[in-house]
Amino acid sequence: MAARGKFISFEGLDGSGKSTQVEKLARSLRAHGLQVIVTREPGGTAAGEKIREVLLHSGTEGLSPFTEMALMFASRAQHVHEVILPALAEGRIVLCDRFTDSTEAYQGGGRKLGTKPVLELHRILCGNLQPDVTFLLDNEVGFSVERARRRNRNVKHKGARTEKAAEKDENRFEQENRAFFGRVRHAYLAIAVREPQRVHVINARGTPNETHAAIMGLVRKKLKI
Ligand code: TYD
Repeated sequence: MAARGKFISFEGLDGSGKSTQVEKLARSLRAHGLQVIVTREPGGTAAGEKIREVLLHSGTEGLSPFTEMALMFASRAQHVHEVILPALAEGRIVLCDRFTDSTEAYQGGGRKLGTKPVLELHRILCGNLQPDVTFLLDNEVGFSVERARRRNRNVKHKGARTEKAAEKDENRFEQENRAFFGRVRHAYLAIAVREPQRVHVINARGTPNETHAAIMGLVRKKLKI
């Protein structure tokens, strides 16, 4: 059987530039001849993408914080089972745009449910699977959220109705206020302090290429690639 692959997750506030970095890392690793899959949460499977629609659509109203957390984990449990574990068993590198740290930051911190229920559900529903490395793209709240909103506004103004555009239009979380994102960032940084071996805080204020260079350096060192 092939050696276990590597599991790398990307975390950060909305508008922190994660998706760009996931794509850049995938391209670099593939150029080295490595087998890479790129996936995301919520989503990543057919069932998960349906759950994503409910969770992120701005028209979804009145979800309780516990329902929100339960849906995040429903999507994740299927994702782990159907995509992540099989890919790792085949020796692939899995790049995941958000994983359980997002639930700890957004539902645990932002929605004030706390860390404990998140870690417990992760143990019960996801076999406590941990990424080998997590990159936390960090930036001031104002900067990230403004970038996310600008992205959405531009998409709406252009009237682009591509699939990608429709997806950018949907995020219920981006309508939250500054205090919410302050709690999310605080919870993220607390995870990095608790798990310094796994979680690397990356300064996301530079250019995309600078950020990519920092990530690549760590990937080479940590994963011996
Ligand atoms: P997405 O459009 O993927 O945002 P981004 O490109 O910034 O990652 O939307 C994902 C949203 O879902 C984002 O606002 C964070 C939120 N989220 C949670 O609140 N909890 C979670 O466990 C996950 C995975 C995401």
